[in-house]
Amino acid sequence: MLEKLNPPRIGGANLYDWDDLVQEDRVHRLIYTDPAIFALEMTNIFGAVWVYLGHESQIPANDDYITVRLGLRPIILLRDSHGKIRALFNRCAHRGTTLCRKDKGSARIFTCPYHGWSFLNTGKLRAVPWPDGYACDFNDPKYNVAQVPRVDSYRGFIFATLNPDAPSLIDYLGAITKPIDEWLDRQPKGLIRVCEANRLKYRGNWKLAYDNSGDGYHVVFSHRSLLEMENRQADVANKGMSYYKNSPDTAPMYIAYMGHGHHFKDKRPNIQKRAGGLWAVEGPAPGSEHYAEALRRRFGARAEDILDLASSEPVNINVFPNFSLLGNHIQVFEPISVDETDVTWYGTAVVDEDGALHGAVDEINALRMRTQEQFPNFGEVDDLANFEEIQRGLACQEDEWIYMHRGLGIPGRVKTHDNGIITAPATDEVFMREYIKEWKRLMKAAPKLVAQREP
Ligand code: FES
Ligand SMILES: [Fe+2]
Repeated sequence: MLEKLNPPRIGGANLYDWDDLVQEDRVHRLIYTDPAIFALEMTNIFGAVWVYLGHESQIPANDDYITVRLGLRPIILLRDSHGKIRALFNRCAHRGTTLCRKDKGSARIFTCPYHGWSFLNTGKLRAVPWPDGYACDFNDPKYNVAQVPRVDSYRGFIFATLNPDAPSLIDYLGAITKPIDEWLDRQPKGLIRVCEANRLKYRGNWKLAYDNSGDGYHVVFSHRSLLEMENRQADVANKGMSYYKNSPDTAPMYIAYMGHGHHFKDKRPNIQKRAGGLWAVEGPAPGSEHYAEALRRRFGARAEDILDLASSEPVNINVFPNFSLLGNHIQVFEPISVDETDVTWYGTAVVDEDGALHGAVDEINALRMRTQEQFPNFGEVDDLANFEEIQRGLACQEDEWIYMHRGLGIPGRVKTHDNGIITAPATDEVFMREYIKEWKRLMKAAPKLVAQREP
């Protein structure tokens, strides 16, 4: 069978016939390999939709900042001296150098390392060295640092968009707020504090990570060594992700497509709901038994609830295009180029504002950090290896298509509910088919992105 090779580039805003590249059951390799498509994604996706930037607990006090990226744009995410959260372009208004080169800190003023212009953390120009060399009016806002016009938080998670026509954040998140709420409400007072990052990188397109984030098909094959390690001892069978063994589609877990590109792998129905039920399946982190026994000696039967707080919630909550909540971790994808992506895992800690955790908060958080030594360290590397090998495979230019049709066309398998949510068995690829439709819709659009400056 001869296929039409490499769809012709149309050029201009309509780079390709997108319906040609994204079909019902398959997508063209170019969406992962073409630098021109990547460049368009940096506006039409990582500019036009709400993109996750960070968590409020990373900038708890006025003047705190972290540096992040919005697509390729370097950003200083900060809480200004008046308490307002802003996303400043990390770019001097003079000749364009980055203003801030640290990961995080506290600053009322950013002074450019190049020629010393200084700016308040509202973005306003504060002073330039030797101003008598200038004839201009430095009160003109064009000399202030540009910033992202729309920054908003959902229960501590900060998102931003350059698109004035994007819906509100709450409307954008839509149905995915429900699993986010449930994930947060499991924590005391619904609060978390985001911990230090575990930074990884892979040589592959950013969408390979998003394709995989709800993929229940690969687990038992790609993560075999992790599953075996978790379940090696006879007395700890059915730990970790062992519910993927045998036939995962017959387990009660499911995948749900939640609209706007978001999806949710809900593995909670696999777990028996009882005090200690979640801890019972937690993977074995070195030293965790010692903590568990000490807590049981101290708290008796109450220890089981405390241990559940230290356990990994069996969910993958994926917010398009760059944010996941999984276990008790936050994962953020940041594209670098068409074939390079940063993946950052942040631990989350519980907060004990009113002493309800009876002094066990440090033990709980120590155990939560140990879960970093399970999937994030021993499973994520399997996934990153797959992404790099896919990118290598896609160099075969004459073999054009990537299939994502698992579950398609089987009567009764994929269910669309009254609220628009689509559910399917755990190994189904329906979440990919649906999110890539949304990607296609966004790539066809012509968003008018804007930056703003303080008046
Ligand atoms: S580039 Fe920042 S002061 Fe010149
Ligand atoms: Fe995986």
